[in-house]
Amino acid sequence: MILLKKSLLLTCFVPEKHYFCNMISSFSAQLEQWYHQFGRDLPWRGTSDPYLIMLSEFILQQTQICQGMDYYLRFAKRFPTAESLAKASEEEVMRLWQGLGYYSRARHLHAAAKQIAEAGTFRRDYSFVRALPGVGDYTAAAIMSFAFGEAYAVLDGNVQRVLARHFGITEPVDTTQGKKLLRALADEMLDRQHPALYNQAIMDFGACWCKPSAPLCDTCPLAGTCQALSMHIVDKLPVKSKRTAVRDRYLTYIYTRTQDGRTLLRRRGGGDIWQGLFEFPVIESADKLTSQQVDEFIHSSLVKANIKVKVELVASDVRHQLTHQRLHADFYLLTLPHALEDAKGIWVEETDLDRYALPRLLEKLLEKKG
Ligand code: ADE
Repeated sequence: MILLKKSLLLTCFVPEKHYFCNMISSFSAQLEQWYHQFGRDLPWRGTSDPYLIMLSEFILQQTQICQGMDYYLRFAKRFPTAESLAKASEEEVMRLWQGLGYYSRARHLHAAAKQIAEAGTFRRDYSFVRALPGVGDYTAAAIMSFAFGEAYAVLDGNVQRVLARHFGITEPVDTTQGKKLLRALADEMLDRQHPALYNQAIMDFGACWCKPSAPLCDTCPLAGTCQALSMHIVDKLPVKSKRTAVRDRYLTYIYTRTQDGRTLLRRRGGGDIWQGLFEFPVIESADKLTSQQVDEFIHSSLVKANIKVKVELVASDVRHQLTHQRLHADFYLLTLPHALEDAKGIWVEETDLDRYALPRLLEKLLEKKG
């Protein structure tokens, strides 16, 4: 029989141990029953290949399932094994990832594939998996349970929410204490006989039923034992202690176009967003630049070239949200008679732009350019 630690019992407002022990088995059994009826049929669920599972988890780290599905299918087709991905060029990997955002995931995935290829096999060993680039506690538990059937409990945002609500955890989940509590609870609740089934079930249940807003409590199989529901605090849980600060950044992009249809691209360096991706020349400023400021900047940069140019505003204040940054982009079209040989960057044919991995924001701006 599984016994919860005393600290957990106290925080969960359920003082009687025997009641709690019954809850553990019925909690997992009910989730698994729910999953048999409502679980989603997703392509990576039909496989126990650890590489394909790792691929799906990297894609889903910051991406909705509906968006990630096509990328998963494309990657799995082009790179069906870790060895095939390991051999690919960084450019090809980034190009295939283009549009998904959070590009460090693609770099980590590529590096992880190289480590697996070097090891000769995807080892069934938690330390090996956890040490792969880009693999944190959640992804390691997902791979170990889904691919190898090992008893590791996943704890992502969906699972946190289900546990916090069901067991009435009012401790903020982003504090050391809250994280410890939820980790212990997640480990206790895991169905050790069927870890893959249980992990999929609780994640899907969090995503589809116990949703952040408008959860389906009326048809919830766990409603009878849900502490948050009985205390009318479903919408208050999970508690977070701090709001993450969001930084505004102002970017002015200059789409430089020559009369013979070439444009100037630059590659972004490290230490900031979009490392290694290509973009148009950009000015970053503390605030939005006026058209006059942009015009003056361009003309002063081109004094030496002594050419006639045309500057037009194409799109203003196009927003793009990253996890902790809100980007505001203006987009100008600069028409030049010919390419300038001493310009920083590379001149490429406009018709070849799709060969370069560009951030999603630039794709949005290009759509506006028409
Ligand atoms: N989100 C992250 N991993 C997932 C998975 N394996 N199934 C469904 N949603 C997920």
